[in-house]
Amino acid sequence: MEKIHPSAARQDIVCAEVPAPPGALIVFGASGDLVRRKLLVSLFEVFKRGLLGEGFYLLGCGRKEFSDEQFREVARQQIGHKAAGAPEDALQRFTDKLYYISGDYSDAALYNSIKARLAELDKKHSTDGSHIFYLAVPPFLYPTIVDGLGSARLACPDKGASGYVRLVVEKPFGRDLETALELDRVIHRCFDESQIYRIDHYLGKETVQNILMFRFANAIFEPVWNRNYIDHIQITLAESLGIEHRGGYYDKSGALRDMFQNHMLGMLALVAMEPPASFGADHIRDEKVKVLRCIRPFTAESIATDVVRGQYVAGTIDGSPVVGYRQESDVDPNSRTDTHVVAKLFVDNWRWQGVPFYLRTGKRLARKDTEIAIKFKKVPHSMFVSAGLGDLPANVLVMQIQPAEGISLSFQAKRPGSKVCMGTLRMSFSYRDVFGGEVPGAYERLLLDCMVGDQTLFTRQDDVEVSWQLVMPILDNWRKGSATPFEYPAGCESFPEADALIESDGRKWRSLTED
Ligand code: BG6
Repeated sequence: MEKIHPSAARQDIVCAEVPAPPGALIVFGASGDLVRRKLLVSLFEVFKRGLLGEGFYLLGCGRKEFSDEQFREVARQQIGHKAAGAPEDALQRFTDKLYYISGDYSDAALYNSIKARLAELDKKHSTDGSHIFYLAVPPFLYPTIVDGLGSARLACPDKGASGYVRLVVEKPFGRDLETALELDRVIHRCFDESQIYRIDHYLGKETVQNILMFRFANAIFEPVWNRNYIDHIQITLAESLGIEHRGGYYDKSGALRDMFQNHMLGMLALVAMEPPASFGADHIRDEKVKVLRCIRPFTAESIATDVVRGQYVAGTIDGSPVVGYRQESDVDPNSRTDTHVVAKLFVDNWRWQGVPFYLRTGKRLARKDTEIAIKFKKVPHSMFVSAGLGDLPANVLVMQIQPAEGISLSFQAKRPGSKVCMGTLRMSFSYRDVFGGEVPGAYERLLLDCMVGDQTLFTRQDDVEVSWQLVMPILDNWRKGSATPFEYPAGCESFPEADALIESDGRKWRSLTED
């Protein structure tokens, strides 16, 4: 494999990160999993980079009774565990900014207590009353909390105050089109769209943002980024993880809702959209929605031929046996929930007419691998046919989203040796080789963007609606039908029905172990 030499590859344009203005982050569900696993560690990383000034503090809110000190201890343990070797003094300074309040989300008294606590802490930290409310709770609690904030007049800045008030909502945004619209109605009762930050954490990944840089900061790709040169596109989001301890949620969701409606369509939009007028939030989000609207709607006929769902049965992951989906805790033993979805989509516009987009996502597959592969058309004529090289492989551009973040381009080249001697070579760049260290996590980017008020990487309501509209015919079809998903053994790369979807078009999935 040809490697781009790091020093040859870099000529950096570094825009200094904008530090967060003074303000408070109020996290509902502070004793929960998301806060422990992701938010605290990500905030600490941002803090270490000097981007959270004196005027920042976090008020955790949860049903569990904790004192400030107990909450700080939980944070110290979590951060220490994830960021081994975290500098003690930085950790101390960070955790000194954490506070906790407990209560019942449906009790108006909680919101009055939050208001009083914020007034006291705003004074202590000299903030100007800027507050970000973060809903890290199960979605059924969103309306209760939003209404509580609205009734306590916490959803807008105090009269005369210069600060802002924002709301961060984690996916899922509804479980179908109807509930998504209802959720939107409830949230808009108290917050307007400019205050709402909907997190699809895939958009915060460095490699996903790089799709925009790659396409629109280089002149050589856009001219070939269309139906004249591209044969098809594969978007893969494979996980070896199962549903962990989320059986209750997952069994009502499934892969189509959990991954496809948001992360997969989000990546497709970035790959397929037209160049935005600028790097501004609404220009980018306008183009994303525009291309999503061009996706050909699914019909009963196309669902039968172009959509396949699977469910894992017992198998082996990394040499260890794992149970099947139906044996997972909190899962119905007769569940028909999809843990794997494969679909073929078409984008009906001038750029993409006739180019299939093959999307696949699944749990308990052989390995974690998220990638976007652009397969170009073969050469129209091989002049090497007399030497037996009539069918030359096509160029493939692979954007490795994770875990081995990078980009590679494969092409044909002369190998040293006899006169006609050719091979497929790969030119590749790896984030770790070139930039070193760990790639910053998605939540670091998103938390900071929310604090500085940049909505570019957050999902707008029209995007949520269009993507639900697209998957609704599939959900309805599955709900009405009696068919069950195809079974696949945990630890496999694919299964015959998923393979047939692409092979019937004379194409093949890229292997999950190909780099
Ligand atoms: C979440 C899904 O949105 O993304 C999970 O709910 C999934 O089921 C996760 O495991 C995958 O995220 P990542 O960043 O690990 O690829």
